[in-house]
Amino acid sequence: MEYKFDFLVIGTGIAGLTFALKVADYGQVAIVTKKEAMETSTNYAQGGIASVFDQYDSFDLHIRDTIEAGDGLCKPDVVEMVVKAGPERIRELMAWGVEFSKETTDQLHLDLGLEGGHSRKRIVHAGDFTGHEVEQVLVDRARNHEHITIFENHIAVDLITYSTRMKRGVVTAAHEDFCCGAYVLDTMTNEVHTFHAKITVLATGGAGKVYLYTSNPDIATGDGIAMAYRAGALVANLEFVQFHPTCLYHPEAKNFLISEAVRGEGGILIDSKGRAFMEDYDPRKDLACRDCVARAIDSELKKSGDECVFLDIRSRDPEFVRKRFPNIYQKCLSFGIDMTKEPIPVVPAAHYMCGGVVVDLDGKTAVQRLYALGETASTGLHGANRLASNSLLEALVYAHRAAHRAAEELKTMNAELCPNLPAWDPMGTTDSDEAIVVSHNWDEIRRFMWNYVGIVRSNKRLLRAQNRIEMIQKEIQHYYWDFKITSDLIELRNIAMVAELIIQGAILRKESRGLHYNIQYPQKDDKFWLKDTILRRPFVG
Ligand code: FAD
Ligand code: SIN
Repeated sequence: MEYKFDFLVIGTGIAGLTFALKVADYGQVAIVTKKEAMETSTNYAQGGIASVFDQYDSFDLHIRDTIEAGDGLCKPDVVEMVVKAGPERIRELMAWGVEFSKETTDQLHLDLGLEGGHSRKRIVHAGDFTGHEVEQVLVDRARNHEHITIFENHIAVDLITYSTRMKRGVVTAAHEDFCCGAYVLDTMTNEVHTFHAKITVLATGGAGKVYLYTSNPDIATGDGIAMAYRAGALVANLEFVQFHPTCLYHPEAKNFLISEAVRGEGGILIDSKGRAFMEDYDPRKDLACRDCVARAIDSELKKSGDECVFLDIRSRDPEFVRKRFPNIYQKCLSFGIDMTKEPIPVVPAAHYMCGGVVVDLDGKTAVQRLYALGETASTGLHGANRLASNSLLEALVYAHRAAHRAAEELKTMNAELCPNLPAWDPMGTTDSDEAIVVSHNWDEIRRFMWNYVGIVRSNKRLLRAQNRIEMIQKEIQHYYWDFKITSDLIELRNIAMVAELIIQGAILRKESRGLHYNIQYPQKDDKFWLKDTILRRPFVG
């Protein structure tokens, strides 16, 4: 089947939906999403959205905290733009119907939380269900918009690109120039459809599933980063994988985060003997930035041989804890842990990709007519380490800017630039009878990424990881072309690609900075490495 739209948005998280709602007044919008619309990282966000609302806070302080967390690699113009745009974007969400928590004493004022690395209370939240509240409002609005069509259970396979060099008859297999849409697999019918679009937006979220342990939902397989790289876009800083210090440690709990807001409200990290250890690592103790807290836990676990540490919030009134963290309280209770009476067992897990597809101040990539937003993008806001709750903020601000730019671009566009797109060539036509190969490779990647390219890295481990990924990539290439594609195969191909890019970035960066720590280069090297690690697919032919 062929579809024609003005805008194709890939992803129904905060970034994709916000963009779609804003451009829908200018043209027809298709949003494809690989599961149900609500199944996004956005939906699971707990802590909130960082922005300046408190009388004792200021833009300068939020800018300073963001830059300090980013450890030298934040782009100051981007930080200033995002921080200053924050309050307006949050007010817009409220006008759309999002209900954030208010101060109990004064229902007019937002209740502001505190998280690691923030010098003031500035986390706008809806209890500890912030993401769900935002996602629900955005999905409802998109479903009700007459110019928006949501295609659920549709997974984008690859972008369709077109080179002006080809048009001039000089067929070099060089980087393509224009994006004209995407091939998308309908996972219910197993058909691949061609989506033509004048403007395409990657809003596919992060890539936590590249790692064995992650706070991310299953959709987070780095598809947008892999597709953009294959299409010739630039990707940057993928070595900066953020590990959240506190995910619930329980054999039956899959991917459940214990929000940093728990530490913001007085929770402290203790070891199995009850000793608070963060003061050994950072003067800000439990409210140090995430890279520092995750490394401290890693070091404690290696020293003690224990399997987890504990987060203790028993100092707070149980009624307050139940009210402030209803989601976390209930989830822990479902595993037999009453957080008002006992410490919560926690471990670090892969949480957020600070790097991604390189974009300009309006979310445009190096491939024309292709935008990247939200966690898929590398805007320069986070540098080497993201400040807590700056991600939802970034997604909102960039979706707004990109929507304005894309609407303008549409007006001036030559619609004939991408004529007659070829239909998807199914190549391998047989069904695979060896799905085990896919699941085996998938497990192997996630395991060696965790062991060799995790919180603490070394040259030897990185090279080992590089050798493994090269072998697996060959197998995947063979498998990919020989059999009919499935969503598992598409995701495996993408996590392998992203794993390879993370390893490349980590090998290139010969220093330790922010989230990247290599024991062979334990120091920061501002002379050579005060710069992004930018990767681009090599020219073929
Ligand atoms: P997502 O919300 O992840 O949406 C991605 C979308 O893309 C999904 O619809 C998915 O199905 C779709 N998709 C992916 N690949 C394809 C494909 N190939 N084809 C079709 N569709 C595809 N950040 C904060 O700022 N504050 C917080 O409090 C916070 N808490 C968090 C808690 C948890 C548990 C997690 C996991 C993250 C948290 N983060 C938080 C980070 C933040 O939630 C994410 O970075 C942000 O929601 C990403 O939004 P997004 O729109 O870019 O992507
Ligand atoms: C959390 O609630 O701890 C997550 C916040 C974030 O990832 O920004």
